[in-house]
Order: sequence, then structure tokens, then C-alpha cells
Amino acid sequence: DRDEDLKPRPPVVTVMGHVDHGKTSLLDAIRDTGVAAGEAGGITQHIGASVVNIDGRKITFIDTPGHEAFTAMRARGAQVTDVIVLVVAADDGVMPQTVEAINHAKAANVPIVVAVNKIDKPGANPDRVRQELTEYEVIPEEWGGKNMFVEVSAKQKLHIDDLLETILLQADVLELKANPDAEASGFVIEANLDKGRGPVATVLVHRGTLHPGDVVVAGASYGRVRALIDPRGKHVDEALPADPVEILGLNSVPTAGDEFRVFEDERDARKLAEERALR
Ligand code: GTP
Ligand code: NA
Ligand code: MG
Repeated sequence: DRDEDLKPRPPVVTVMGHVDHGKTSLLDAIRDTGVAAGEAGGITQHIGASVVNIDGRKITFIDTPGHEAFTAMRARGAQVTDVIVLVVAADDGVMPQTVEAINHAKAANVPIVVAVNKIDKPGANPDRVRQELTEYEVIPEEWGGKNMFVEVSAKQKLHIDDLLETILLQADVLELKANPDAEASGFVIEANLDKGRGPVATVLVHRGTLHPGDVVVAGASYGRVRALIDPRGKHVDEALPADPVEILGLNSVPTAGDEFRVFEDERDARKLAEERALR
């Protein structure tokens, strides 16, 4: 893309951390809803995407499971993201999936904002969390490091505004831009076969604008977009850079992490998808 075609775009923020440190609760506090309470066993089983508006600015959030079985999902989350919010419970401290998330962030060269959560708990010790994280070169700015820290309570909704402001500050440093006028491309963040709707892929648009009627290839799947559905379940006419959106109309279920892109010609799309399906 030429410089003059690039427009500012919202940040994509992935929330990572050890199991039960409060990632989903924190997103609930941010969205003011109740997903964690409604999840089976309170465990996040998939990558959920949502968009929030803060003083007229959009942030796309991606939730990830902390369970050790989901390393690949966290790796994918790290790759599509601009900023990682590392959630560390102040009573529990640094745990194995905390370290794993740090490693994903470093491998993907993504800045980490630390949310020290559960500061309402009697055993909370945020300074111990800071101390423990220095061992992994995650060092607070006030200690001469590069990482912004915010102490929060998802449960009591303490300092959620500070966290959002900090995320936007971190995003500003990155000067995120994309060309919205190009043909759309991006990544599949999750996909499944829905009984009524057929193959459903949640994609994150990286570049360009996606529309109903577009022909897309996603991994070894292709099809004409029958509908675009935003994270609230609303049908939409377009998905812009950094928008997460469900695509209906694919011929099969792609794999999370697959790239997608729009094709001019439906035959070209089918040919490429069929070649890939044979591999
Ligand atoms: P996984 O997706 O399973 O990895 O968990 P998670 O990190 O999304 O944690 P979740 O939001 O499911 O919260 C785990 C537990 O911690 C729940 O019982 C929450 O109610 C509790 N919790 C989350 N945040 C806070 C907090 O700020 N204070 C207190 N006291 N409890 C919290
Ligand atoms: Na949980
Ligand atoms: Mg969760």
C-alpha cells in the first residue's frame, strides 16, 4: 500500500494469562456484560472477539483460554494482535501460562500491558507480581522498563478506565494504519460448523473492507459471503480493518489461523481452495 492510502485503524488487543486469573471477567467489566458467569464451568474454550467504543475510539478485544491445552490458540492470538494485555492475579502471581503468554508476545514482537487483577482480594500483592515479572524482562516503566502496569479488580470494576486509557496510549505509540479501500484480507480466528447456518468463520480483517457478496478464500475453503455478522449478532454491510466478523457462505470449515482474502474471480477462488484442499 502507498502511504497516502493508509488510514488510522483501531488496535487489536489480545487478553492473555494463566487460567482463572480473570481475563474474561476483565473483558466483562470492560463490556459490562456477563460472559464469564455464563461460560460452561467458567472456562474459556475458544477465542472470543468483541469491540468496545471508548470516547469514540474503537478497540477490538480477543479473549483467549488460559488452560494449558490451548497453547496453539494463544500463539494465533498473539500473531493477529497489536497489544497483549497480560492478566496476572495479584494473589496468585506469575504462573506457567503467564510465562507462556510472555513468550508468545516476545516471539510476535508485541508490546505487553500488564493488568494486575484481583487487587480486591485479601492476599493481593501487586508489588510481588511486579518483582516476579522482572525475571521475564517485563519491567514497569516506573522501574525503568518498557511495560505499562495497571492494578485492577475485574470483580469490583476498579481502575478499568485507567486500563483502557493505558491500552489506547500504547496503541497510539504504534501509529496503526491500514488501507480500507483495498480488497479485504486477514485471518480466521475461529471457525465451526453450525447446524442451521453451515460453515461459520470468525475472521479479523487486517486490510481492506469486506462486504456481503465478496468471493473469499480462507485456507482451503471458499465461497461468496452470504452474510457478515458482527460480535453482537447484527448483520452488517461491511467489515473494516481491525473488525472481527462472522462470515457465512463458505463451502467448508477453515482452520483457525488460516489467512483469508477476497478474489475478483470466483473460478480462481475455487481453483486455489481446491488445490489447497488436496494437499
Ligand atoms: P480462563 O478463561 O478459564 O483461563 O479463566 P479467566 O482468566 O477468563 O478467568 P475468569 O474471568 O473466568 O475468572 C476466574 C475466577 O476469578 C472467577 O471466579 C471470577 O469471578 C474470579 N475473578 C475474576 N476477577 C476477579 C477480581 O478482580 N477479584 C476477585 N475477587 N475475583 C475475580
Ligand atoms: Na476461568
Ligand atoms: Mg476466560
